Amino acid sequence: MSDLLPIELREECAPLAGHPEHLIHVLRRVQETVGFISPDSEAFVSDLLGVTLSRVHGVVTFYHLFYTEPRGRHTVRLCRGTACHVGGAGGIQSALEEHLGIKPGETTEDLAVTLETVACLGACALAPVMVVDEGYHGKLTAAEAVAIVDRTLSGEAEAG
Ligand code: FES
Repeated sequence: MSDLLPIELREECAPLAGHPEHLIHVLRRVQETVGFISPDSEAFVSDLLGVTLSRVHGVVTFYHLFYTEPRGRHTVRLCRGTACHVGGAGGIQSALEEHLGIKPGETTEDLAVTLETVACLGACALAPVMVVDEGYHGKLTAAEAVAIVDRTLSGEAEAG
């Protein structure tokens, strides 16, 4: 159990043993460290804090800030709100799905990209809009959206 969690994280969390009020904090630290909350991580948190496994799992699945699957190194969020829909977000989504080989909510096999759709990114004047990691891109065409994703991935290759 929890062998995949770094020893540094287990040591950092050790002083919180038996303190169930730190449940959210410990879950956040696990996710920040390993990227998602696995069943083994849930068991670790349950043992550490003295919280039932079902309560830990309930918190993990209730809050949208926790992920139960590995995430991509990059997150592509495509807006599917009304303004973006009218501006052609459907075609952009199809192009991204075809290019990446995944649907919204999925991650590429190489863990490079997680694709998500959201209801509104708060930049409707720039519709259609997508956010890649922290960067906004507006007034997009499908070809531009694919090119931006490719540039993000090739930048990663150059940096590596
Ligand atoms: S509808 Fe797309 S940013 Fe608001």
